[in-house]
Amino acid sequence: MAERETWTTRIGFIFAAVGSAVGLGNIWSFPFQTGSNGGAAFLLVYLLAVFLIGFPAMLMEFVIGRRSSMNPISAFGELGYGNWSIAGALGVFTAAVTLAFYSVVGGWVISYIGGSLTGAYFGNAGAFFGAVSVGSTSVLTHAIFMAITIGIVAFGIQNGIEKATKVMIPAIIVLLLGLAAWGFTLDGAAAGYEYYLSPDFGYLAANFASIVPAAVGQAFFTLSLGFSVMIAYASYLGRDDSLPADGGAIVVVNTLVALLAGFVVFPVLFAIGAEPGSGGLGAAFVSLAGAFGQIPGGSVLGFAFFVILLLAALSSSISLLETPTSYVVDNYDYSRKQVATALGGIIWVAGIPTALSTNTLGWYNAVVFNLLLPVVVLLFAVFVGWVASDLSADEVGRGTSLDAGFATTWLWWVRIVIPVAIGLTLVLGIQSLLVRAGVLEAAVILG
Ligand code: TRP
Repeated sequence: MAERETWTTRIGFIFAAVGSAVGLGNIWSFPFQTGSNGGAAFLLVYLLAVFLIGFPAMLMEFVIGRRSSMNPISAFGELGYGNWSIAGALGVFTAAVTLAFYSVVGGWVISYIGGSLTGAYFGNAGAFFGAVSVGSTSVLTHAIFMAITIGIVAFGIQNGIEKATKVMIPAIIVLLLGLAAWGFTLDGAAAGYEYYLSPDFGYLAANFASIVPAAVGQAFFTLSLGFSVMIAYASYLGRDDSLPADGGAIVVVNTLVALLAGFVVFPVLFAIGAEPGSGGLGAAFVSLAGAFGQIPGGSVLGFAFFVILLLAALSSSISLLETPTSYVVDNYDYSRKQVATALGGIIWVAGIPTALSTNTLGWYNAVVFNLLLPVVVLLFAVFVGWVASDLSADEVGRGTSLDAGFATTWLWWVRIVIPVAIGLTLVLGIQSLLVRAGVLEAAVILG
């Protein structure tokens, strides 16, 4: 990101933010989380989390960024609360941890692009996934994915990213629409839609303790919240842009992409008779890839699907690496190339354990979703709602035609509703980490 420029166009900002938001989280993680948390029951809680918690939380990061026009760590000092830099720093740290395993999954996608060309996964997608998701192949593709990410960030082709996302986002939507239309023609479509869209409230009640933290974590992750990224992006915004309008557009487009991915994945899973919950981390990779192998033209569809997935992953990984890189470049006397290479290298090493075991990858994922994200967003909420409330309320309405009532409602939402929702999420999230670690046998709270 160039220094203290503003976005060339308002739409340029929206596309860049959407490019960061749309990624593996929408096309891989969302269907996989939905499938392992009861389908429509999860979808319902997820949509509530996106619109009631995610959208107002996005405005919190926008407010901090635009008001300070500073990078996420210096922003707090600029506003007069230097101690709070720790919150911004924790967000940047979360971005680095996330990139460590994000890059591993990006590496799997690279293997699948190759596999679409050679047909290697058509016969037995499960075996192919097993071979490329752990071990030396995975470490190697993790390195390739990270090297591409470092390359782009090092050469700072910001302009290129802005231009590329403008083509990619529409391309992703068109391709997913095409795949969803194809999914509609499959035998499993009706059963898939039923699972995806008709909530089983009994399941929801019985699994509330695991669904809530998963849905809230997924909402934050998919909207790139809690990573300080939206602080950085909004710091380049002009004073007369409407934060709620831009945020609303980003949230809606991002949600549509995730929903569309579900309309591809569930008909396909039910068509080949796969249990939606059984695929685990490999769901999209095993079941979906398996289905590509079973239909005419599947190699072309598979190739297109995984290329799009790679582009979406790269546009996100770039901004994950950009966040810590720009901080170091701003504050220390090293070149962008040195910093991007050093940080990318360290993060690559940190990701190696997740390239050796999908169980470890699941752990990284769970710590980010259940712990780091809620903690960072909670800190931002306390800061915006209670500590710097006057300037927050002033900033959120700037550039809009909304009356003061909007700012007041939002402020109280940030003060009360978001902390309560996140508090619940955190308690349940930590509990689910303890269950995962075997410390607790089963959920005690709301179990
Ligand atoms: N939202 C991205 C996705 O859905 C992942 C992500 C989370 C991200 N936080 C981010 C990307 C910060 C860029 C910057 O895949």
